Amino acid sequence: MNAANRATPAFLDQAGIAPGMRVLDLGCAFGELSRLVARMAGPEGAVTGVDRNIDYLTKGRETAPEPGAAPIAYVEADLTGDLSALADQPFDAIVIRRVLMYLPDPEGLIAKLPALLKPDGLLAVQEHDATGLPIGTAPLPLHREAHRWVWDTVEAEGGRRTMGMTLPGMLERAGWTIASWRAEATLIGESETSWLGHAARGMLPRMIAGGVATEEEVGLDTLDARLEAERREAGSALIWDMAHMIAARAPG
Ligand SMILES: C[S@@+](CC[C@H](N)C(=O)[O-])C[C@H]1O[C@@H](n2cnc3c(N)ncnc32)[C@H](O)[C@@H]1O
Repeated sequence: MNAANRATPAFLDQAGIAPGMRVLDLGCAFGELSRLVARMAGPEGAVTGVDRNIDYLTKGRETAPEPGAAPIAYVEADLTGDLSALADQPFDAIVIRRVLMYLPDPEGLIAKLPALLKPDGLLAVQEHDATGLPIGTAPLPLHREAHRWVWDTVEAEGGRRTMGMTLPGMLERAGWTIASWRAEATLIGESETSWLGHAARGMLPRMIAGGVATEEEVGLDTLDARLEAERREAGSALIWDMAHMIAARAPG
């Protein structure tokens, strides 16, 4: 589980996801967020998850429905394309988590959202941001390098490392009203067994494809041990990531 996901339930609760709502989850993958929202919307609610990856959608469809949760419909669509088929029955809320940061044109998707929402509908977005990170009380050069591999890969694929910090301004310029904005740091403790090696393992083919790092530079076999040694020797924990959580109301 992405450590930043622990902050999602409280954020969505405070944002106003409530029983009986019809909620649209854009970029739903295999439905982890859709299922959370379905539990919050309850049996009177309904959730539609949208993704372009059919393998993820199939996995979502194969996951057994939870008792007391809203039904979930999984729809295949490209968020960069025409979404008007979703506008027939406008939604009470749209949730998006870690999707805008991967899109070359997030403004283009944001412009399509009001047509999918009821008047004054809710948008609840969780996106990450790398600005100024990682932060430790010591230089931690290997951690800096590993952080750069991750975010250079995101940018090589057309995403951006500043999504969290820039999203509220982007929404305001599009006429949205920001209801709340907070950020939650993901920390890695000095002596904690970190998940960075696992994350690097998952991203390595993309790092290589993006020309960001070679297999030898990453050195997966020893990466976790080297990172942990660096933190221990430096006597420093660090802030690795920042998840921005923004609730906004649709333009009138
Ligand atoms: C990092 S995952 C986040 C999944 C989910 N929102 C969550 O928080 O668990 C990003 C998802 O966005 C989807 N995605 C990215 N670009 C897309 C596009 N243009 N159209 C539809 N889905 C897209 C990917 O297929 C992937 O499932």
